[in-house]
Amino acid sequence: MSNVYIILEPVFNVPGRRLAGKSQKEVLAVAFQRPKIALIGGGQIGGVLAQLSALRELGDIVMFDIVENLPRGKTLDIAEAAGVDHFDVRLIGTNDYRDIAGADLCIVTAGLPRKPGMSREDLLVTNAKIIKTTGENIKQYAPDSQVMVISNPLDAMVTLMQHVTGFPPNRVYGQAGVLDSSRFATFLAWELGVSVKDINALVLGGHGDRMVPLVRYANVGGIPAMELLERKYGNPFKAREIMASIVDRTRKAGTEVVSLLKNGSAFYSPAAAAIQMATAVLHDEKRVLPACAYLDGEYGVRGYYVGVPVVLGKDGVERIVEVTLNEEERGMFQHSVASVVKLIDDMRRLGFLTAAVDETLFSRPEHELKLIG
Ligand code: APR
Repeated sequence: MSNVYIILEPVFNVPGRRLAGKSQKEVLAVAFQRPKIALIGGGQIGGVLAQLSALRELGDIVMFDIVENLPRGKTLDIAEAAGVDHFDVRLIGTNDYRDIAGADLCIVTAGLPRKPGMSREDLLVTNAKIIKTTGENIKQYAPDSQVMVISNPLDAMVTLMQHVTGFPPNRVYGQAGVLDSSRFATFLAWELGVSVKDINALVLGGHGDRMVPLVRYANVGGIPAMELLERKYGNPFKAREIMASIVDRTRKAGTEVVSLLKNGSAFYSPAAAAIQMATAVLHDEKRVLPACAYLDGEYGVRGYYVGVPVVLGKDGVERIVEVTLNEEERGMFQHSVASVVKLIDDMRRLGFLTAAVDETLFSRPEHELKLIG
């Protein structure tokens, strides 16, 4: 048993799998099982998530949606590409929550996307009702899973998901920062005429117009992006103006796509970002990536989900990584957190957060924004 355990230990670095108390036969049976990914929501993002997961053989996929037959049609279509793309994973589409049983990771995109003229916050009431139902079903049918939420308004929906499932906060997180940072990196690469692969760019805060692209930390192969912009324009004022326009475009990037698509919001890039996070978890990579994570005093915030860099591995959010912020950055971060706080207050007012599923997190008196002194 112990040899088998040692050899196969990496295989068990998958959330939701427990070795304790298992016989050698059971250990071997689980060892050769692919991770199970439940996609809750089979719309635009759900579809791309299924296809990318299959192409990368990330795990077996179950796609759930309330629209009859839609997930079956989508997964069948994707599965039929296996003869061309040569992936060996199973894809199932379902309208029955029981099929998510045993999922290692649930990725939730259930909910309405934005239409032109709408802010992410405008989706609050509609999507909160949907997240409440999906959370209850995840709790019932996949109680050992981790949950990655993508539905908007992101920070509020992640909070609600944790509240409804009662899962430990490290097992419930949201995707936004990887996408926002990717958008920031892409715009910088275009401006500087360099490969996006060499850009490190980080966006903190809530997933809204007040998000905080960290200009001071943005670099190209270690060289500060501001320095390169100054060299390009030979003028620090012009460089700052260009950077400000990149920051502004990053903050409004989702809205830009919505206004072009007219009847939906971005889906390729959010799916790609979520797949990077899912890979980090399912392969226990310990990647340092921005995620919407529960803060318990870090960054001077206690009791809220906010976008910050974290270490992502088999236990989900394994650690919060604190970045030193100067006064200006801290001010912007606090401004962004304030809009998350407002959303949470709205949810409380609307009755979504009153049933204290997790007393320790959301109903304790110190549940308030604590700013860094
Ligand atoms: N349970 C499961 N699925 C649901 C439910 C529910 N209660 N209600 C709606 N859905 C499904 C819809 O049937 C639809 O197929 O969620 C899917 C959402 O897909 P799209 O409308 O195509 O939206 P998408 O672009 O995928 O975005 C989903 O992610 O980025 C956010 O703002 C975006 O909130 C939106 C979410």
